[in-house]
Amino acid sequence: MTDISGRSGIIENFVDYKTMTDWKNIFDKHFDTQELHQTKELAVLKNNMKDEKFGEYLGTTKGIDKRHKGYLWFKRIILDPIQKHFSTEFHLMYAHFANSEKPLNIHQDYYPERIPEGMSHYASFLIPYTVEHDPSKCFNAATVLFTENGTMTQQEYDQYASHNNPICMQEFGLDKVYTWRTGDLIWWDAERWHGSNNFPLTCKNKQSLVIHTYA
Ligand SMILES: [Fe+2]
Repeated sequence: MTDISGRSGIIENFVDYKTMTDWKNIFDKHFDTQELHQTKELAVLKNNMKDEKFGEYLGTTKGIDKRHKGYLWFKRIILDPIQKHFSTEFHLMYAHFANSEKPLNIHQDYYPERIPEGMSHYASFLIPYTVEHDPSKCFNAATVLFTENGTMTQQEYDQYASHNNPICMQEFGLDKVYTWRTGDLIWWDAERWHGSNNFPLTCKNKQSLVIHTYA
């Protein structure tokens, strides 16, 4: 059993490719299509700068929350098996099967309007599926966790975070790079700063199941 506070981790081989494909087919058929958009840039939030990338189209997604008719299916098939690995009972805020064409900037998963009063953000989960719709290309994408200690080197910035504002990234350090592999379950405390790697350097798009929770 895992305590998530301030932490991140990976559960390898959580699910196989065929099972994920079955999940994805159900998402594609029954869940609502929405667009993914770029998050507010940190430097902009802190310095009142003009944010040129905020709201930029990043891709499409098929989503579900607790009100959706497929929620009980989602809970039984996907959420309950995840819950077995974690000590705190958590609830679904929002989950989606995302097709990302551009990388998400560094951010925290902070959606207070989606959480019932008295509850808090819990973990976020990401299960890589494919890159360019091919599971063998997953290694091109990564989910990156940052520290707030300003230790990032130029090489780390260039390799993992160069889609972010360089001034803003001076405040961070590189903590973990979770290179994608189909079916692994990557998780982090929703308060942790994280983002995509700059995957357009090596591939065009990536597909994954992302789950946000509260407890
Ligand atoms: Fe996130």
